[in-house]
Amino acid sequence: TITPVLLAGGSGTRLWPVSRKSFPKQFAPLVGEESLFQASARRLSGPRYGAPLVMTNADFRFIVAEQLDQIGIVPSAILIEPAGRNTAPAILAAALAAAEKDPDALLLVAPSDHVVPDAEAFGRAVDLGLPAARAGRIVTFGITPTRPETGYGYMEAEGGTDSGGEAPLVLKRFVEKPDAANAARMIAQGNFLWNAGIFLFAARTMVDAFKAHAPDYLAPVQAALTEARMDLGFLRLAPEPWDRLPDLSVDYAVLEKADNLSVVRYSGHWSDLGGWDAVWREIQDAAPAERGAVTDARSTAIDCDNVLLRSQDEGIEVVGIGLQDVMVVATDDAVLVAGMDRAQEVRKAVSALKAKG
Ligand code: GDD
Ligand code: MG
Repeated sequence: TITPVLLAGGSGTRLWPVSRKSFPKQFAPLVGEESLFQASARRLSGPRYGAPLVMTNADFRFIVAEQLDQIGIVPSAILIEPAGRNTAPAILAAALAAAEKDPDALLLVAPSDHVVPDAEAFGRAVDLGLPAARAGRIVTFGITPTRPETGYGYMEAEGGTDSGGEAPLVLKRFVEKPDAANAARMIAQGNFLWNAGIFLFAARTMVDAFKAHAPDYLAPVQAALTEARMDLGFLRLAPEPWDRLPDLSVDYAVLEKADNLSVVRYSGHWSDLGGWDAVWREIQDAAPAERGAVTDARSTAIDCDNVLLRSQDEGIEVVGIGLQDVMVVATDDAVLVAGMDRAQEVRKAVSALKAKG
């Protein structure tokens, strides 16, 4: 079986005011009834998978435990990172912990804030990657790009993305978050895929990749594990070695340098809910509303076009009249009003508010 490793430590500032420091987007029901985290855990449950390992931090530990309990999933462990150091240390910690028991253990690392509605189709893509993962490769999942997005990793397949049928393709190059000009160039070239941020590998393969490309992580992460202590069922990694770790994603630390990457194309629907415009698109696709007004039970749109109106608070009604290309998101203590094409700048608002104190 495959052990899912759920990454649930990010803060998701572009989905403010619903996503908060103490309650980030992965735990909120943004699309559908369940939270994105619950949907991710459920997607990676069933016959292919064993009990998941969750990587998170102290602030979110009870939310993680409660949300898993609500959907009847029992984790194999919930590891608490003493501080957010991005995905490189978290993934190495999961790999080292798994390798201790079985170096050949297969891990599937997945973000907990994505929308992938067809779990079975995704499972078949995982199956296609298994032989490569068993043979010591790091298997990524590739999405056909539709715009020169700068927030994703790009992957160039050897011999182009059309060859190979269903078998995994060998990767020539991995480019994390290119600038706009490079992203446009790669899109024009036509043989690049987006990195879905989901990785399948044998535990020892990832440990070896860190040894080769980011050796400084090994001793501190190993020490944080060795000195970890159990606390109310959570495994708390030791803070002293962890705090010394650089803050870097696995994409920059390892994947850009590794030469044993493969990619399975995933043609089902995938979305990283990177902003309110993406949430709007997602809900719109699920239930095409009249003239693009997306509302919830507490919002009303009259004569609106390309508008998102949301209220997360039972006491607040949101009403829009004659609006165009606007998003309004209300919670009990904050209201966001922004142009639909400015969704990425919400992160700036969060910084500005922080600066105000
Ligand atoms: N446990 C833990 N600890 N999880 C973390 C941490 C951390 O310190 N930092 C981030 N995460 C979680 C996030 O919550 C998210 O689920 C996942 O790890 C990925 O982090 P993001 O910060 O969302 O990464 P990204 O979106 O900028 O880029 C990654 O995903 C893209 C696709 O969505 C990269 O892998 C890109 O190459 C990829 O295209
Ligand atoms: Mg992301």
